[in-house]
Amino acid sequence: MSTPTFATAFAPATLSNLGPGFDCLGLAVTVGGDRVTVRRAAAPGVRVLSVSDPRIPLDPERNTAALAAASVLRRTGQNIGLELSVEKGLPLSAGLGGSAASAVAGAVAANAVLGATLSRREIVLAALDAEAVVSGRHPDNVAPAVWGGAVLVLSLDPLRLVTVRVAEKLRFVVATPDYAVETQQARAALPEAVRREDAVAQAAGLGALVLALERGDTKTLAAALEDRIALPYRAPLYPGFVEARDAALEAGAIGATISGGGPTVVALVSVDSDAGTRVADALRAAYTNAGYAASVTVARVDARGAHVL
Ligand code: HSE
Repeated sequence: MSTPTFATAFAPATLSNLGPGFDCLGLAVTVGGDRVTVRRAAAPGVRVLSVSDPRIPLDPERNTAALAAASVLRRTGQNIGLELSVEKGLPLSAGLGGSAASAVAGAVAANAVLGATLSRREIVLAALDAEAVVSGRHPDNVAPAVWGGAVLVLSLDPLRLVTVRVAEKLRFVVATPDYAVETQQARAALPEAVRREDAVAQAAGLGALVLALERGDTKTLAAALEDRIALPYRAPLYPGFVEARDAALEAGAIGATISGGGPTVVALVSVDSDAGTRVADALRAAYTNAGYAASVTVARVDARGAHVL
């Protein structure tokens, strides 16, 4: 099969942290995603021809799709040029893994036009090279965006991933209020050190969360979404969150927390309880009361992950 001169790839939105999984657990969901088209060019180097959102830089040193494509180029050792067009489906600075989705779609499309020689693991590493420049080298969005489903990252160097099964009956009500929180700002709010009792609670919570996601054990899920090391310090960045979470619980959600660096909120529901629409309405109403419009989706797990279109 000959190598195509251009390819378009899609990478999905990802929820990360999910309470106690700070920087190590993420989940791809059906809340849209980003598309990147990569075209081979004769002149070496990576160039960004267009981005659908004017707030995103065309400068290839600051554009995650281009940084990831450049990393793919380096990893394949080829000396050609790549030209990119980026179509943002995800909001910026929302906690839905938008920069990771662009990076992963850029890496997957670049790999396709370079002969598809890189493994999924190498695609993760290439996208992480890009994330490191713009928001820090954390893998909890990139890994599930590549793999699909839920992924727990055990270590970065070497990269060790474990996929986590998510019970069929779970749905994720994803609410994004119309204000932005920069990932770097959310990370700057974190203390350097974690108290021992918080580390212990977080480890226990993450173990319980993974088991409960696999088993569809809603009672354990409800108790396992507490985050002791990030959310308590970031809470002031998320006006309306506490009211939204309370409203979601009142409407029948199993639990609710902030996704990634926020401000997106994810509320977990079981299809058995038929609570999806009620929770979606409750989240929207809570944000309206707090003075923010919110975009709300009742999502499923995106099991496929990034792919060439
Ligand atoms: N785990 C990261 C954080 C995700 O919470 O800072 C940022 O997208």
